Amino acid sequence: MRFATKAIRVGQDPDATHRAVVAPIWQTSTFAWNSLDEIPPIDYTRCTNPGRISLEQALASLENAKHCTVFGSGMAAIAAAFSLLENGDDLLMATDIYGGTYRLADVYLRKQGVTYSSFDASDLSSIAAAVKPNSKLLIFESPTNPNLRISDVAAIAAEARRLGLISIFDNTFASPALQNPLDLGVDIVVHSTTKYISGHSDVIGGALLTNDCDIAHAIYEWSKAYGPVPSPFDCWLSLRGLKTMGIRVREHCRNAQAVAEYLVDQPGVTKVHYPGLSTHPDHELAKRQMKGFGGMVSVEFESAAMARAVAERTKVFLLAESLGGVESLVAYPPLMSHATMTEEQRLERGIPPTMLRLSVGIEDADDLCEDLGLAIASAREALLSPV
Ligand SMILES: Cc1ncc(COP(=O)(O)O)c(C=O)c1O
Repeated sequence: MRFATKAIRVGQDPDATHRAVVAPIWQTSTFAWNSLDEIPPIDYTRCTNPGRISLEQALASLENAKHCTVFGSGMAAIAAAFSLLENGDDLLMATDIYGGTYRLADVYLRKQGVTYSSFDASDLSSIAAAVKPNSKLLIFESPTNPNLRISDVAAIAAEARRLGLISIFDNTFASPALQNPLDLGVDIVVHSTTKYISGHSDVIGGALLTNDCDIAHAIYEWSKAYGPVPSPFDCWLSLRGLKTMGIRVREHCRNAQAVAEYLVDQPGVTKVHYPGLSTHPDHELAKRQMKGFGGMVSVEFESAAMARAVAERTKVFLLAESLGGVESLVAYPPLMSHATMTEEQRLERGIPPTMLRLSVGIEDADDLCEDLGLAIASAREALLSPV
């Protein structure tokens, strides 16, 4: 089966009792035993649930993975991956990483006696330079958030393996519709299924996928012990959303390309970050590695005041955190995704206060460009007019 068919059919056969085409929501915490001689395959929803199994099977097929465990959030999936670290271990973390992942390592892993070292995912030699004798895991993303740089996933996975590290890749920004990192040699893929996978901004969820049986077993046992599991309804919403991921992501890519090209020519815009632009430093790598350039665009303006004024003036783009839903969102990283970092840390990572991050939705591309154009014109007028 191919991607679009798998998204609709894998793990989603009609239910055995009534042949319902859409599976019911098994909204129960516990399952009755027939006798004490036979432990039921599903006995308690913290351990699993029929809807959760369907979602895990569908996601595993879309990421070409043998094993999948879903979670109540993307952060829970990342925490699950980090549960492989023990007191005294070191984590290699790409500098350009989601703010929540950074916080988990910087504050909470530190409390557990786990240190981290940083590497630059655009410079392969920085991995060997950063590795320590106690380094165990390596985590990275591509496209990165919010700079949208592309790293060579196969090369980084191979380098991690050569150095004896387990590699973790956060595939949230691309989604399985655009790249399958396990096929490129990564050991563990994590997702915030909140984003493109569920796709409708109506549920928080996460997933961890791997082809390694031992890792999968350790993750499942951790999840059972700590309990950061998704509810049956959340699994149902994610499963409903992922059926249309293929067509949604195609439209996200098409609209993002149109928005990026439009923004390049707008007054007050100093830089547009989108891997689909031929001027993007990683355009050729993105073309080779991905099936599309994604739905995220970052844009820098001539001043922070202008960036903030534009964010507050769009009408179709809603000023909100998150990404990957059908509706377009505009975010201001210093106050949203990267608020946990200091100004200095953000600047070190190339996240200036003049930047906005756009999650381009699947509305009409002309409406999106028009909305941004009007917001830019209005922001310029407000900032340029004498008080
Ligand atoms: C790249 C990336 N990874 C992980 C997460 C965390 O996901 P969640 O909000 O579902 O916990 C996010 C959230 O924005 C993200 O952007």
